[in-house]
Amino acid sequence: MNSQVQAAGLTLAELSTKAAEKIVEHNSWQNILLEQQSDGVYLLTVNRPKVLNALNAETLAELDQVLDMVARATDIRVLLITGASEKAFVAGADIAHMSKLTALEGKYFAEQGMAVFRKLENLPVPAIALVNGYALGGGCELAMSCDFILAAENARFGQPEVNLGVTPGFGGSQRLTRLVGRGMAMELLTTGRMMNAEEALQRGLANHVYPQGELLTEGNKLAEQIASKSRTAVQLTKQLVQRGQDLDLDNACVMESDVFGLSFSTADRHEGMSAFLEGRKPEFS
Ligand code: CAA
Repeated sequence: MNSQVQAAGLTLAELSTKAAEKIVEHNSWQNILLEQQSDGVYLLTVNRPKVLNALNAETLAELDQVLDMVARATDIRVLLITGASEKAFVAGADIAHMSKLTALEGKYFAEQGMAVFRKLENLPVPAIALVNGYALGGGCELAMSCDFILAAENARFGQPEVNLGVTPGFGGSQRLTRLVGRGMAMELLTTGRMMNAEEALQRGLANHVYPQGELLTEGNKLAEQIASKSRTAVQLTKQLVQRGQDLDLDNACVMESDVFGLSFSTADRHEGMSAFLEGRKPEFS
């Protein structure tokens, strides 16, 4: 059994059904919070407001643990991710922590962040970043590892590592390039300039921009819409998008036909198509 799951006092059997409630009950994290918003929708908050939610090794370890649990909890359908306080989503990796690291420890710290963000990217359910305020360095990298980003009007995105004499370490140079293109990524990475919410929207980094006070409500609305669909179909769709983006089109299309066929074996496919033909709303399992 995963030792981190054991550490939270849960068995795998307990994690199979109604698991999310149990995770929330057993929650003893110092730097993150997990709360239910509605049926199937959970909100994960990075909770270190005094340092603008900067990510140190302990916070990354807690994120790693909660993501393992979320991946197993069949009653979680969408994960919203945000930062505590109106000022910041996450202002980066923790500079006080990094200032004490040797070169080798710096590499290990980057590997820890990379592994956590890759786990987030590969989470079976969609993860939506709700970016309130600063999303810088590791914060921008965290947001970009979600499936998509909703931004508050005060959101500020950037990779300011050049100001500290270092490079991005949690995937920023790679994910930003894939999301906004090589030229704009190079400009942002080499100047450390921050993008405001409107620019992030124009460049395709954020899907929508909302007034600060409406960000959580709008995030919940979108999440509830997704949670009302077939969980299996949503999960398979995420896999197609995640895996397909790094394949050539021929292979990606082969994968899509295979997964399309696979989806025909599910109860949700019978329910979805029957409901349509009978003129009623589907009730997915
Ligand atoms: N790490 C540690 N502490 C941080 C932090 C960070 N990334 N960002 C902010 N803080 C702390 C500040 O030190 C300050 O603490 P004190 O109150 O104890 O002094 C507190 O949070 C509030 O911050 P400021 O007083 O600086 O707030 P501000 O409104 O004047 O400025 C800001 C806000 C522009 C975001 C500024 O805090 C800032 O530039 N932060 C650093 C951003 C950054 O460089 N991020 C990238 C980190 S490197 C990285 O992430 C590498 C990677 O890819 C893995």
